[in-house]
Amino acid sequence: MPRIMFPIFASKCIILSLLSSLAIILVAEESHGFVRTLDPRLIGLKKEKLSHFRLYWHDTVSGSNPTVIQTVPPVSNTSATFFGAIYMIDDPLTLGPKLSSKLIGRAQGFYTLASQEEVGLLMAMNFAFTEGKYNGSTITVLGRNAVFTKVREMPVIGGSGLFRFATGYVKAKTYKFNSTTMDAIVEYNVYVLHY
Ligand SMILES: *[C@@H]1O[C@H](CO)[C@@H](O)[C@H](O)[C@H]1NC(C)=O
Ligand SMILES: *[C@@H]1O[C@H](CO)[C@@H](O)[C@H](O)[C@H]1NC(C)=O
Ligand SMILES: *[C@@H]1O[C@H](CO)[C@@H](O)[C@H](O)[C@H]1NC(C)=O
Repeated sequence: MPRIMFPIFASKCIILSLLSSLAIILVAEESHGFVRTLDPRLIGLKKEKLSHFRLYWHDTVSGSNPTVIQTVPPVSNTSATFFGAIYMIDDPLTLGPKLSSKLIGRAQGFYTLASQEEVGLLMAMNFAFTEGKYNGSTITVLGRNAVFTKVREMPVIGGSGLFRFATGYVKAKTYKFNSTTMDAIVEYNVYVLHY
């Protein structure tokens, strides 16, 4: 009897292995090898929403605890627009205009003087939130900031955590600027679409 059983078992094995390799081929075709199409709900993406944040950005140049530091000097000392200079920032973001008001995160990144005609910055910074449910989530801002224009708009190009897939823009408006110390407080209104 085992002599008869064995071939049956063996053929079952062959069929099974044929089926499984077929399944592997089917999956591979669907996923193009390294890419696959995914239902957005599988990674928790439900409904897109629009959030508006108002916060204050504190760029402190003066004193013993500056939050902005020049890391690259301008290409020429005669450039009135400081063309080519790069500044790294780790600026507090607060709920109110006073530095002593509630800290909600930090703006970390850099700005560089990118215009030979006016004081025009290229800004690249992450708003790293530390408050409430946003703690650990970030928004990335990359754009042009002509600082002496009343309201400047810059794109929000992405985010992490609660801001995955973020797109949007910020409106930056100088709240206070001290031309002696160069310290600045800027009001940021952030409009961001995210899930
Ligand atoms: C600009 O001035 C500083 C200080 O005087 C000097 O160290 C630096 O070499 C100058 N830079 C250029 C590009 O001339
Ligand atoms: C934010 O998260 C960090 C790391 O998980 C934690 O140490 C910190 O206490 C949190 N801050 C607030 C304000 O919840
Ligand atoms: C600018 O800062 C200097 C030094 O702290 C201070 O004496 C001056 O009053 C400030 N100016 C304004 C307009 O706040």
